[in-house]
Formats: sequence, C-alpha cells, structure tokens
Amino acid sequence: MNILILGSGGREYALAWKIAQSPKADQLFVAPGNAGTAILGTNLPIETTEFDSIKKAVVEHDIDLVVVGPENPLVEGIHDFFLADEYLKHIHIIGPTKAGARLEGSKDFAKQFMAKHHIPTAAYKTFDHENLEEGYAFLETLQPPYVLKADGLAAGKGVVIVNDLSEAKSELQAMIEESKFGDASANVVVEEFLDGIELSVFVITDGESYLLLPEAKDYKRIGEGDTGLNTGGMGSVSPVPFASKEFMAKIEAKIIKPTINGLKSDGIPYQGFLFFGLIKVDEEPFVIEYNCRLGDPETESIMPRINSDLVEILTATAAGTLQDQKLNIDERYAATVMLVSGGYPGQYEKEKTISGLDSVNNCIVFHAGTATDVESMEVKTYGGRVLAVTALGNNLKEALAMAYQNAEIIQFEGKTYRKDIGFDLQ
Ligand code: AMP
Ligand code: GLY
Repeated sequence: MNILILGSGGREYALAWKIAQSPKADQLFVAPGNAGTAILGTNLPIETTEFDSIKKAVVEHDIDLVVVGPENPLVEGIHDFFLADEYLKHIHIIGPTKAGARLEGSKDFAKQFMAKHHIPTAAYKTFDHENLEEGYAFLETLQPPYVLKADGLAAGKGVVIVNDLSEAKSELQAMIEESKFGDASANVVVEEFLDGIELSVFVITDGESYLLLPEAKDYKRIGEGDTGLNTGGMGSVSPVPFASKEFMAKIEAKIIKPTINGLKSDGIPYQGFLFFGLIKVDEEPFVIEYNCRLGDPETESIMPRINSDLVEILTATAAGTLQDQKLNIDERYAATVMLVSGGYPGQYEKEKTISGLDSVNNCIVFHAGTATDVESMEVKTYGGRVLAVTALGNNLKEALAMAYQNAEIIQFEGKTYRKDIGFDLQ
C-alpha cells in the first residue's frame, strides 16, 4: 500500500524508517519531511495543516494510509476533514478526531476528563479573565512551587513553574490578561506540584482495545543534570529501569484502561497513538499530561525496539481490529542522543554542512532538522534539533556508550549534545 506520513522531525523519520521495513509498504511519502525521509521515500512540499493540499496529494499518489506525526493537524481536525470528504473518508488515517485530540489541545478538558474518570492527576482549578481574583486566592492555598499551564497548544512552552507566590500571581496575570501565550493562555490551569520522576508511556488504540508500546524517558532540558532551558527533547532511553512489571500493571489499571474506557463511554472515537506523560510519586503514577501523538525523541528509542510489522498494526488500528494484533518487543535497551545546533533552544544558525553520516557503526541516525542543499546535494542542518543517534545494547550502559561513540563521529559546526542522558537511571 502507499503511505503518507505528515511531519518533518525525528519522530517522523523514525516512523518512516520503521514503515519502510514493512513488506506491506509500497510507496512512502513524507510531507514535508527532511533530508533523511527523502532517502527513505519521497518528500512532498506540503505543511501538515494544509488540508486541501494534503487531499490533492492523497488522490494523486493513491495513498491508502496517512500517519499523522505532530499534534497541530489533529487538534485542527485533519481526521474530521477526512471523514467529511467523500473520497478521503475511505482512506485510513492514524490520529484521533478533533474531539480526541482535545486531550492534548485543551489542558482544562484533559483535567475534567481525568476527574470524571477518576484518573490520578494533580489537584487543579482553571481560571480566566472572569475569575482571575479567585486564581490569586487559589494560588495562596497551594505550596510552592506553583504550576501554571496555558489551556491551549503553545508549542511546548505553555507550562510555567515558579517558586515565589507573587511571581506566580504575576505569571497568571500575564498569561490571562496580557495573552503571554496568545489565545492559548486565555484559560489557565493552576495545579499542585508533584514531586517525583517522569516517564512517557504510549499506546496505540482503535478506540476499543489497545497495545502498550515500549515506555521511555526523555530529557527535556538543554543542560546536564536537567538544568537550563526547556527544549523539544535532548535524548531518551527505553525501557525505563524503574518501570517494573508491578508499576506498569498499576499504570494500566489506574490510568490506561480508565482512559480508553472513558473515551469510549464519552462517545469519543480514537484511532491512533496516545501518549501518557506520567510522574511516579512514591510508588504511585499520576498523569502530568496527555498527548494525542507519539513523543519526540521517545519515538527514536521506541521504534528500534518494535519487532512487529508496524504497517500491520497501523492498518488494524484504522480498521478497528487491533484486538487481533500483538506487539513483539526487543528486550534490549535503546538510548538516543540528540545532536543540536549551537545556541539552541535560543537563536541558532542553520545550513551547516553535516559530515560523518557514512562513518557511524552499530547505530541508527534519525534525521530531524536536516535538509539537502539543492546545489551541492550536501546534507545540511536546518533546525535546532538536527539528528538523533540511537543505539541498542544489552543494558543501558552499553546502549549509551554506543550512542555516544557515534555522536562524536558526526560533525557540524556548533554541534552540541548532552553528555549525561540516562544519568538518573544508572
Ligand atoms: P509540558 O511542557 O507540558 O511537556 O510540561 C512541562 C513539564 O513541566 C513536564 O514535563 C513536567 O516536568 C513539569 N510539570 C508539569 N506539570 C507538573 C506538576 N503538576 N508537577 C510537577 N511538574 C510538572
Ligand atoms: N518528548 C515529549 C514530547 O514529545 O512532547
């Protein structure tokens, strides 16, 4: 079958890499893609929210299956757009409709959903222009640090955590009254701070049953020891050593099953990936956030651990027959180190020539922010997060050592990476 993946990052490259291995995949297209996806398939110069152009591409290239990588097109209703179209409604699409994507698109909706279905999460209240004063009063009842979250999508920047009460109040004011995150912060969720260790858990679901994917841990801060500014993600590992069988069973019973059943009982169809951003407090899991997609760079650690044919799983998801499927998981550890442009997540330069891509050994190099120079045909940097280097090993130490060995081989001006991925797990 012909398959179209929407997106251009490391996550989409990892999906393309895995999908391309399937005997069921004929032609593979990625829109807009990067320098790496252009080698695995054909890039199409279409942005992920240009629904009319996506329709044209689906018709022209006789696409059977569309896999949506990022959240924006889902929150904007790409699945609904497909369902409303005579031609597209017969095309399989992986990713929920607008109603399901609200789990990520509105933090207030996600909190209400969790409260309704008794899913453990931090205590919270939501405020807007009308009840800002109550927001200040609510902050006074909480212990520091204070957690404030823009209700809507804010490109991963909408969460503010501060230690000082007066700072928390002025942040709340800035978010609501000064539109600090645009319309996304017209409503703000204020919640209790949870002190624990985070992990990312993923399922793929057809709305009835689900398959648990390998769990992972990502490293979001730019600096070693989890310090400095937040980034899109500097590395990841899978599996997560503290996610024991008992703990994962608790997550399934207290979080995953109630979520899938809750979607069903609320009449929200959901066909796609669902990402649970969790935190372990003592021995209990709590939901920090839902995402209606896979994580990046978690996907780069997860895909190499899936032995099953992903196209078969995706087709069953879209067809509603996931209950007949099983996932075969590689027991080994995967470690991913992200190579980023100098200056990231602040200002950085682009179009630096990348070398060493052919000299790596025993690893997979996932392209993220790369592009091919049309004149020289060289692969160049094109984003903050440039390449994800993933290696497998019999234990975490082995996987990390191999990923770091290869991270050194690849060169581009300004190359930066965290040297301590997995530091808190060994
Ligand atoms: P996000 O930008 O939504 O990925 O979340 C930002 C980060 O804020 C999360 O990964 C957590 O590290 C942190 N965070 C969010 N909510 C809480 C909370 N209630 N307690 C502690 N940390 C939190
Ligand atoms: N790695 C976290 C995310 O994709 O949101």
